Amino acid sequence: MNTQAPDAQSLKKQRVAQAAIQHLSDGMILGVGTGSTVNAFIDQLGPWARRLAGAVSSSDASTTKLKTLGIPIVDLNAVDGLSLYIDGADEANDRLELIKGGGAALTREKIVAACAERFICIVDESKLVPYLGAFPLPVEVIPMARRLVSRELARLGGQPTHRAGVVTDNGNEILDVHGLRITDAVGLESRINQITGVVTVGLFAARPADLLLVGTAAGVREVRRPA
Ligand code: A5P
Repeated sequence: MNTQAPDAQSLKKQRVAQAAIQHLSDGMILGVGTGSTVNAFIDQLGPWARRLAGAVSSSDASTTKLKTLGIPIVDLNAVDGLSLYIDGADEANDRLELIKGGGAALTREKIVAACAERFICIVDESKLVPYLGAFPLPVEVIPMARRLVSRELARLGGQPTHRAGVVTDNGNEILDVHGLRITDAVGLESRINQITGVVTVGLFAARPADLLLVGTAAGVREVRRPA
C-alpha cells in the first residue's frame, strides 16, 4: 500500500477532480479525456460506476482505466451527442482557450469536445497562462506529410520538432511547435487546420471550454468565459 502523502500538485489535481464529480448526473453518458488530471478524476468515479449509463473515452489509456471500474465504454457513433465532457489541458487562458495534446490524444479529445454540450476543463493552477504558447503546441500529422507540415509551421513563426518515438492512437505522428506567443488562438487554429497533412492542432479555441475548474492551494476556483 502506498502510504506517501500526495505532493502539492497531485493534491490540486485531486481537488479539481473532486469538484468535477459534482457536475455528473444519473444516467448520463460522460465524455472522458486523457492525462494525469483526468486520471485523478477517473480514480474518483468508482461510486458513479453504476450511476452512469457509460462513457465515451478519448484514448486507449482512459478506456483501460474506465473499464477497470466496470464503466461501459460507448462508441461515439452510437450516440447523437454528449451532455458533458471532462478533460484536462496543458495550458489555459482566461478566455478558456486551451492547448492540449501533451499526451498525444488531441484528435480524439477534439472530436469528443465537439460533440459535447458542455466541456468542463480541469487543471491545476500551473496551467493558467496570460498567453498560450509557452507549452509547445502539439500538431498531429499524417506521417508522410511531417516535413511538409513542419515547413509550413515554420512559416507561421514556430519551431516545430518531431516528437520522436510517439505514434498516436490513430497511427499518426506529433510535431510540437515551440516559440509561439499566441494572441489570436481562433485565427491560428484555423490557419493550421488548413495545412495539408495536418490531422488536428492542439489549440482548442473555436470550441473552447465552457467552464474551467482550477485547483489551487486554497481550493478550487471557477473561471467562466467572458461574455
Ligand atoms: C492529452 O493529450 C492532453 O490533452 C491532456 O489533456 C493534457 O496533456 C493534460 O494532461 P495532464 O492532466 O497530465 O497535465
